[in-house]
Amino acid sequence: SGSGLPLMVQRTLAKQVTLIECVGKGRYGEVWRGSWYADSVAVKIFFSRDEASWRRETEMYSTVLLRHEHILAYVGSDMTSRGSCTQLWLITHFHPLGSLYEHLQRCTLTRHQMMVLCLSAVNGLLHLHTEIHGTQGKPAIAHRDIKSKNILVKVNGECCIADLGLAVTRNHIATQQHHHSRQGTKRYMSPEMLDQSINLECFEAFLKCDIYAFALVLWEVSRRVRPALEYRPPYWELAPSDPSFDDMRKIVCTDGHRPAPPAHTHPTMVGLANLMRECWHQNASVRLPALRIKKTLLKLAANDSS
Ligand code: ADE
Repeated sequence: SGSGLPLMVQRTLAKQVTLIECVGKGRYGEVWRGSWYADSVAVKIFFSRDEASWRRETEMYSTVLLRHEHILAYVGSDMTSRGSCTQLWLITHFHPLGSLYEHLQRCTLTRHQMMVLCLSAVNGLLHLHTEIHGTQGKPAIAHRDIKSKNILVKVNGECCIADLGLAVTRNHIATQQHHHSRQGTKRYMSPEMLDQSINLECFEAFLKCDIYAFALVLWEVSRRVRPALEYRPPYWELAPSDPSFDDMRKIVCTDGHRPAPPAHTHPTMVGLANLMRECWHQNASVRLPALRIKKTLLKLAANDSS
């Protein structure tokens, strides 16, 4: 089963879930809103060709204690055979506001709302990236598919990080368990992934890719701070809608483009623009670690009087 739960418990769980409405479709499969007794749950239904992502996400949630307010909370996993077809479910908490990507299309933000979104998201990323020792410990985890569609917005205005289907630990790297059919989203791929200079044996290299992608998310959020610009995905003016690896390599590596931070003059926004630039730097070794991003955001928030 791979989920660590006794088979009986898993089967019982999935049979108790009622699917209500489809809230998302993508290359991964579908996400449904469902009910489990009085609780709303989200059910991610994987295409069977992406069983590796379901396995990895199930493994991450069941072998690592990942209960954190800024990481999507796990309920359970299920694999059901339906004739010749294998159905793969991942059941989590449901967040009615959906992804940050959807939220940013709907809403413009005050600086305070922006700060709550960014601080909570980096706090989730920091928890993933941090190794914790002891019985309640966890290994450091690289997410490998950070983007606004993989960050959910909670009704309290904070975010949580979702989709651990590509996530890796140092142990996965050491034992060569990261050669996955799926890759990260091309639009958010770091320059060292695109020019293939990344050292795939080095776990820390994947943490630095997450930081690059997170900088692009900060940029997406910053555009929606009032007076807001329209929502745009990173590299919207340069890349086509489903960019190829070579499209992105030309833009990010050959031509060295990065998004233009919005032209706000408020010190918080200037500080945020500087933070993005440090985090999407060509040279991965000078990108800030998640803890430094959090501390910088906390300082910007503390100095923002209005
Ligand atoms: N879209 C993807 N995952 C979701 C979740 N857990 N809640 C709401 N919308 C989602």
